[in-house]
Amino acid sequence: MCGIVGYVGSQSALDVVLAGLRRLEYRGYDSAGVAVLADGGLASARKAGKLANLEKALAERPLPAGATGIGHTRWATHGGPTDANAHPHHDNAGRVAVVHNGIIENFAELRAELADRGHVLASETDTEVVAHLLAEEFSGCADLTEAMRLVCRRLQGAFTLVAVHADEPDVVVGARRNSPLVVGVGEGEAFLASDVAAFIEHTRSAIELGQDQVVELRRDGVSVTDFDGRPADVRTYHVDWDASAAEKGGYASFMLKEIAEQPKAVADTLLGRIGVDGALTLDELRIPAAVLKAVDKVVIVACGTAFHAGLIAKYAIEHWTRIPCEVELASEFRYRDPILGGRSLVIAVSQSGETMDTLMALRHAREQGATVLAICNTNGATIPRESDAVLYTHAGPEVAVASTKAFLTQLVACYLVALYLGQVRGTKWGDEIRAVIRDLAAISGEVGRVLETMEPVRELARSLSGKKTVLFLGRHVGYPVALEGALKLKELAYMHAEGFAAGELKHGPIALIEDDLPVVVVVPSPRGRSVLHDKIVSNIQEIRARGARTIVIAEEGDEAVVPYADHLVRIPATPTLLQPLVATVPLQVFACELATARGNEVDQPRNLAKSVTVE
Ligand code: M6R
Repeated sequence: MCGIVGYVGSQSALDVVLAGLRRLEYRGYDSAGVAVLADGGLASARKAGKLANLEKALAERPLPAGATGIGHTRWATHGGPTDANAHPHHDNAGRVAVVHNGIIENFAELRAELADRGHVLASETDTEVVAHLLAEEFSGCADLTEAMRLVCRRLQGAFTLVAVHADEPDVVVGARRNSPLVVGVGEGEAFLASDVAAFIEHTRSAIELGQDQVVELRRDGVSVTDFDGRPADVRTYHVDWDASAAEKGGYASFMLKEIAEQPKAVADTLLGRIGVDGALTLDELRIPAAVLKAVDKVVIVACGTAFHAGLIAKYAIEHWTRIPCEVELASEFRYRDPILGGRSLVIAVSQSGETMDTLMALRHAREQGATVLAICNTNGATIPRESDAVLYTHAGPEVAVASTKAFLTQLVACYLVALYLGQVRGTKWGDEIRAVIRDLAAISGEVGRVLETMEPVRELARSLSGKKTVLFLGRHVGYPVALEGALKLKELAYMHAEGFAAGELKHGPIALIEDDLPVVVVVPSPRGRSVLHDKIVSNIQEIRARGARTIVIAEEGDEAVVPYADHLVRIPATPTLLQPLVATVPLQVFACELATARGNEVDQPRNLAKSVTVE
């Protein structure tokens, strides 16, 4: 939530910062603002609403040119999305500008102190106190970096801060606790941002800041210390994707592009993890075999779509390893005093690697002695950094707020972990593992085939754009798929959408069925677990008899569903546990198209942000 950019160099800071903000707008779009150091002073502009509003304001009233600047795109927490609450915030003399991501928990107390000392605070935000505190500390030491360290020591909560001071025109200072901040190192220039996407067109050399660190950026280099001024060890890494990966590339939305990228994302996530003999090579996990052999319980913690991936993974983990597996919403996890110990393996699944609920859950798990494995799509993010081990998904940058390709790759990564556990613990034979791996390797092509047949789904979605409610049903792994289909529709189309376990319908939700209500049913394969298949066919008949308009997602060759399907969406036949990888795709397309037909902006749905860095 909230995107931050800082720049010092020889280019126009305003151009660099605005381009960075465009790439970070997925993080929040309640307001945007910039500040530039120029002509011995500080000039800034900020506007409620999307970045386009700010750009329009800047076109009408340009800022003076300068080579040092900061910018912000906001997801509102303290104070509504107004011009006054937009970042940057300033001190009373207008010499300091600061942008912030996170929540300063003791801001009310600090605000009262500042007011007592005669400061006038102009916004309702928690951030503004930092600008005033920085000005006070700077007047004592005339060093913005030191002032930042002193201020950070007084703050509680989660914060990424980036500040400039008119008296230090060639310096940008950043600080990080719990929220992400990455440094970009260029030739004679340096960048700070919440995400490398903001500066990827300028440099692919990055430094991930650690917890409680302050960074000083100058044209000729960066220096990093802790909050007490002790130099910190930093690791520079090379970003392995380029600017084109963060562009729409001819698609109408990032979501459409990311849906289309799924075959590649799935294949890339398997890449290098299968040996020549077809067995799994996950040595990158670096969890000793003895630890994996001793695991007596797996707990998956995640939020939103990643939570749904965890729900599906539970079926595979328990089936392939016979280890009990719990899946818990990260936001609930630590508050119920979960039973964990040295033999628990906690898997934290997160695309961004910075979801605060998931981060707090993993910290709690580690405090209880559990081994924590992160499944993450963002290199060097906080969640993998704080975990004992990490398995990266290789989906590439996911920009659209609605998670699509990350979900499929999270599933693949979970399956790999499950199989690896089975391999290490000997609960699966080598040839069984190789057979699943072969099926997984074929899935990328199957997802591609699904994508080629989506026109009728798009047409159907458009025809339903006037509906108020859509229900989703599934059984077994199809149940979390139904939940995911409903989540996509809620967040994108702003419609009432709910997912149910089909067998649960008769215990209450069937009362919701009324004439012409669209109900999407994810049908398990008729092969293998055919009992499940037969039962869901009965469920389809039950709802149809009560007037539902049935939209049936069923495997090619499943003829039993045909008489009861008002609309039939075919997916390729896959092994039961892998079916979510193909069954989810039509639901993503359905939600995207329906939302577009309703005039919604699919990449930036209302009230949401891509990375949720507050609890
Ligand atoms: O970055 P994460 O995977 O931790 O994010 C978790 C959820 O916030 C995320 O999946 C969210 O539910 C998506 N917007 C759903 O499309």
